Amino acid sequence: MLSTMRTAKTLTTLLGIAMLTACGSDPNSPGVEYMPDMYRSPAVEAYVDYGQDPYHRSEELAQEQRNRPSARKPVPGTIAFSADASKAQFNMPYPYANTPEDYERAGIELKSPIAMTEATVEKGKVIYEKFCMHCHGANGAGDGPVVNNGKYPPPGAYNGPLKDLPEGKIFHSLTYGKNVAMGSHASQLNKEERWLVTHYVQYLQNGGKMTREASADTTATAATN
Ligand code: HEC
Repeated sequence: MLSTMRTAKTLTTLLGIAMLTACGSDPNSPGVEYMPDMYRSPAVEAYVDYGQDPYHRSEELAQEQRNRPSARKPVPGTIAFSADASKAQFNMPYPYANTPEDYERAGIELKSPIAMTEATVEKGKVIYEKFCMHCHGANGAGDGPVVNNGKYPPPGAYNGPLKDLPEGKIFHSLTYGKNVAMGSHASQLNKEERWLVTHYVQYLQNGGKMTREASADTTATAATN
């Protein structure tokens, strides 16, 4: 009994000392850190291979690791694999260069690999409303809010001066941009999305109606899902 009391007293004293010493005079010091990993998680940066040194234990090792990027660029000419065969074609490189000659060539040769249906037009509309409407306007008349406040030159109306612009040229201009004000959308929209929004532009070219070529081709719709 007595010894239990003594042990308790000793423990209390030790705890008291521990608590007092824990609070150092420097208010900014965290004191003794129990499990520092919990406070300081390693600041790992992307594209740097820290290898076996995630805690940056030695500068020499870190330097060596930095010269060994783990996220390597693919070999030039690499084409992404697509498990879905219907999507594989969209991984192929775009065969036309950003030149006036290839713009003309695309206008003649380049055709949409996706048949235009109400479903593809509907999907194109969703993309159009997010990426194009603020400049081109809801009906493609070239009267979006960004243009209306005078910041951009008004693009031609789709069912006016751009009425006969072929799909290949629409796609080409979406890929590379057109002059200064119409930027390239290749980084925002993948090829499939660019073709879908092209369908919506064609729909607007036709005054908000399905074009004559449009058919209820359900196989093509399946390919875009
Ligand atoms: C920042 C405003 C802006 C945005 C966003 C924009 N456009 Fe344009 N677009 C323009 C302007 C301005 C032109 C006229 C360019 C010229 O001929 O000088 C144009 C031209 C075009 C043309 C005619 C190209 C040609 O070959 O003559 C098409 C088609 C077109 N845009 C489609 C789109 C689609 C589809 C989107 C959305 C994915 C889009 N644009 C987004 C401003 C924009």
